[in-house]
Amino acid sequence: MTANILDGAALAKSIRADMARRAAALAAQGRQPGLAVILVGDDAASSVYVRNKVKDCEESGIRSTLDRLPAATTQEALLARIRALNADPAVHGILVQLPLPVHIDPHTVIETISPEKDVDGFHVASAGALMTGQRGFLPCTPYGVMKMLEHAGAQLRGAEAVVIGRSNIVGKPQALLLLQADATVTICHSRTRDLAAHTRRADIVVAAVGRAKMITGDMIKPGAIVIDVGMNRDEHGKLCGDVDFDSTAQVAGWITPVPGGVGPMTRAMLLVNTIEAAERAG
Ligand code: GUN
Repeated sequence: MTANILDGAALAKSIRADMARRAAALAAQGRQPGLAVILVGDDAASSVYVRNKVKDCEESGIRSTLDRLPAATTQEALLARIRALNADPAVHGILVQLPLPVHIDPHTVIETISPEKDVDGFHVASAGALMTGQRGFLPCTPYGVMKMLEHAGAQLRGAEAVVIGRSNIVGKPQALLLLQADATVTICHSRTRDLAAHTRRADIVVAAVGRAKMITGDMIKPGAIVIDVGMNRDEHGKLCGDVDFDSTAQVAGWITPVPGGVGPMTRAMLLVNTIEAAERAG
């Protein structure tokens, strides 16, 4: 069997078009959505990420600002900037790019963002809302993965889902979202004794470990949906996921490519959360 490709780039494009329509409708009422992005320091990868986020906003009719603060910025100065953005009615979403310089505590920073503007979904109030089934903001990557599963027509109710990775940003919220959709969820991680025994039983595998090509076709049940959240470099320096695409595509029913899978969806869901924040601010 050769897997169907779950084209995240194409799905993200249609989501961006929807968000542009919703942004235009808000702007017509004098309520143009606004996202404030803060980057502290000059990490090269983070610079690219924030530039892309700002560009996505521009193309969708979301007003965006980018604060580039020097690496030596004090935590107190950063918190003061966040408090000013919390109080600014033109700003509906606030995103502080991670990682932060080591002298700044990321938890304190994230908890200072108003939960109503937490479009990353990283605030404890957002995590708590997800845990208890209340309305909050979902972290963009697991939210995007759920949209991709929906798009593939995945039957989640009663399905065996295996999430590999237990981060606060991807693994844990992903498991909760799959659980909410009535899947039977297993969370695997670096200390899992026999990973393949778990993945071979799974109808849905979400790999978010950060190790190049560690999931191979022999670990996958025929016809399974395989979602690759990984973003690594292979031995030739080429971008690759956590899933060995070639062997897995021989077995799986659906597979996401890297690049062009989860990545564009993560970016698109930030726009969704920002539009939602603006609509809720009513
Ligand atoms: N660093 C890497 N990914 C992300 C993200 O999704 N949000 C923020 N704020 N920082 C990141």
